[in-house]
Amino acid sequence: MMEVIESVKEMQRRAEALRLAGHTLSLVPTMGFLHEGHLELMRVAKKHSDILIISIFVNPTQFGPTEDFQQYPRDPEGDLKKAEEVGVDIVFMPTAGQMYPPGSQTKVRVEKVTQHLCGLSRPGHFEGVTTVVAKLFNITKPHIAVFGQKDYQQLTVISRMVMDLDMDIEIIGVPTVREPDGLAMSSRNSYLSPEQRRSALCLKESLELAEKMVMEGERNCAVVKQAIEALIRSRPFTRIDYVSLCHPVTLEEVDAFGEETLLALAVKVGETRLIDNTLIRRPGK
Ligand code: PAF
Repeated sequence: MMEVIESVKEMQRRAEALRLAGHTLSLVPTMGFLHEGHLELMRVAKKHSDILIISIFVNPTQFGPTEDFQQYPRDPEGDLKKAEEVGVDIVFMPTAGQMYPPGSQTKVRVEKVTQHLCGLSRPGHFEGVTTVVAKLFNITKPHIAVFGQKDYQQLTVISRMVMDLDMDIEIIGVPTVREPDGLAMSSRNSYLSPEQRRSALCLKESLELAEKMVMEGERNCAVVKQAIEALIRSRPFTRIDYVSLCHPVTLEEVDAFGEETLLALAVKVGETRLIDNTLIRRPGK
């Protein structure tokens, strides 16, 4: 039977008891409204552990004042059903009051890798993410935690935090799960009208275009970036937040394609902000 725990103290006691009994615990942190991408994270986590914990918490501190915290889609009943089907052992589902009691004032900030990509257009976002994830780690005490590569920068930032703060947790990244037409799965896809949904395909088409250009010999990032920007601008409802070709570890922009270059995109389609990315490998000589 899947357990649902709302209290921080109870979750800590449960996790400690499971650790003492010799179990390997994994955590998949989520904000709920679970889709196939989340379920894939859970399946991977399950393979690496014998107790699978997920958290469902729409974390207010990672949303900017003009962002979609209030509208963020929620479906606790559907989520519990899906979690049970995948074989989740424990769902940690705290209230905002449990996570941020009055007087709390401590934040975790990762300095450099947060200063690129989404960090530029979402000030404070990653501080909200690292703070809540550090708390979730302290509450659920996992040996392993699993995150999606769709949020490539988030995975980078969390891996850095774990290294820098000597957290004894293995971080695993899982490839992006896509809809049959290639759109990366995201809870925010539910905001899109049918016309916007069609325009949203320009994200994955941009990744494919870049891969093709590099495969055919292009090495100049500015040329590829221009081609991507033209593709995205040709689609209705779109507004580019960023198109970045950068180093896959430091996330600093690069001018020429190296052995591996990260292409990361953020595009607003109507009011919905979508992201996608791919690691582009320069073909061998
Ligand atoms: O990726 C997410 O859904 C969130 O950023 C996370 C990791 C659950 C933290 O709130």
